[in-house]
Amino acid sequence: MNNAQSHCSCCQQDGMEPFAELDQAIDLYRDKEGNLIQILHIAQELYGHLSLELQEYIATALNKPLSEVSGVVTFYSFFSTTPRGEHTIRVCLGTACYVRGGKKIVDALQKTLGVDIGGTTEDGKFTFEVARCIGACGLAPAMMIDDVVYKQVNINKLDAILSQY
Ligand code: FES
Repeated sequence: MNNAQSHCSCCQQDGMEPFAELDQAIDLYRDKEGNLIQILHIAQELYGHLSLELQEYIATALNKPLSEVSGVVTFYSFFSTTPRGEHTIRVCLGTACYVRGGKKIVDALQKTLGVDIGGTTEDGKFTFEVARCIGACGLAPAMMIDDVVYKQVNINKLDAILSQY
């Protein structure tokens, strides 16, 4: 299958390359060291996640094997191959948070959101993840939503926190 065939029909209709916005970044970083990670970051920012189709596009553009691109994508946890939610929830399960109830928060959120760790809610609002210390150990247990840190969280506060989003 060639590239044009593998792209979605909506993009073919208007004759646009579906990942054309990425070409500028590819041209900019093509000859730079560590370019693959830079380009993957930009691609994820532009398209929300790194689909196989997008990985193929980048591999072809950089003249690299797909296995190399996929290897980098799967190695780093900040890259995602599935669509992410509008907001990312990260509950800390580092030692301090774990012993002060972090696991209870994880369990409660799994139930409320209806997703497992790593999942995205059906309405696309939240992606739910865990972290290994977010620098708020003194006020554990802690969690983050996007860049906002919530300290001394307990399960009774969760509804109020989520309702802000
Ligand atoms: S262990 Fe949770 S913030 Fe450090």
